[in-house]
Amino acid sequence: MAAGPTRVRAKGPDREGLDLSHRKAEHVKVVLGRDVEGRYRYWDDIQLVHRALPEIDFEEIDPSVTLLDRTLKAPIVITGMTGGFPDAAKINDNLARAAAEVGVAMGVGSERAAVLKGQYPESYACVAKHAVPLKFANLGAPQIIAQKAGDRAVGPDEVRAAMDLIHADALAIHLNFLQEMVQPEGDRRARGCLPRIGELAKRFPVLAKETGAGLSRSVAEALRDHGVRAFDVSGTGGTSFAAVEYYRAVDQGAEREARVGKTFWNWGIPSPVSVLELAPLGLPVIASGGIRSGLDVARAVALGATAAGTAGGILKAAATGYEETRKELETLVHELKVAMFLTGSRTVAELGRAPYVVTGESRPWIAR
Ligand SMILES: Cc1cc2nc3c(=O)[nH]c(=O)nc-3n(C[C@H](O)[C@H](O)[C@H](O)COP(=O)(O)O)c2cc1C
Repeated sequence: MAAGPTRVRAKGPDREGLDLSHRKAEHVKVVLGRDVEGRYRYWDDIQLVHRALPEIDFEEIDPSVTLLDRTLKAPIVITGMTGGFPDAAKINDNLARAAAEVGVAMGVGSERAAVLKGQYPESYACVAKHAVPLKFANLGAPQIIAQKAGDRAVGPDEVRAAMDLIHADALAIHLNFLQEMVQPEGDRRARGCLPRIGELAKRFPVLAKETGAGLSRSVAEALRDHGVRAFDVSGTGGTSFAAVEYYRAVDQGAEREARVGKTFWNWGIPSPVSVLELAPLGLPVIASGGIRSGLDVARAVALGATAAGTAGGILKAAATGYEETRKELETLVHELKVAMFLTGSRTVAELGRAPYVVTGESRPWIAR
């Protein structure tokens, strides 16, 4: 391995480690092969007001932004998806190489398999080889508390290992209790996560992220009061993890979980609504959940997000190759710049002041 792991050692597989690897591989397979999108595209509810006289040149537009003290060439984050099984190395390498080239941020998927089970550390560590301007390590809230007697909960040593593995700048702690409720093998304990996040946030820069069901203002305030430095809203309207786990539950013959997956497919707070709720808190907000174009990135910034994140929208390209991944990122940046031009926004700060209208199903949410 060229770079990265100093503390995580590859280990021979045990049963639980194999299960974790298998699950991470299945998530990618399901997202690539099945319909897992939310029923409604909330980002289309955000209409930027066209400016017929931009009074700037396209050439002058500067989409760079600062997020957690790092400069990105565009306000885009590839949010955490994968790692922990052999094919994940190629996906993460394509993503990291393209993120470095285009100058955007990136996270990896949950590093639980690597730090607790020593599974395929190289599938994460490949990210450290590339000069990605801002990198997020990733661990789940259910893992920072003990799920059953005798379980080892993730603590500062494991977090340090997860960060070292990819040379991370910050740790993303994901909140995924909807997913856990649809997973036949899901973790059902959530009590005590908040103070544990607080303890970890004293030692590491922590970003709190959802995984497709959104963050409300009250949860974000509690997280902020426990030292969290930034949020990734990951709201409803993009990849539905209830849907992803629905297919897995069907395959496993887990009838009740499959039914729950179907029932809760569209559960959660719409991504743009979550951004509007969190922006006034004054911490950086990454808008994600259903970001599928550079126009969606522009909409997110206009609502007050510092950057926009995409996962499912770039996975197919990343599973195909580096060129495809770079092209997708460059297209996102180009579309963002078109939206900046057509709103007369020379900088991302100016785009943040661009007028917009909220329509459709998002509207009653903001009026509540
Ligand atoms: C295949 C796949 C695996 C994911 N695994 C993780 C993960 O391990 N940790 C995490 O924080 N989020 C994970 N996510 C959630 C994404 O980071 C993101 O929050 C969510 O998919 C919504 O964004 P999207 O609509 O652009 O996909 C995963 C997403 C996908 C598509």
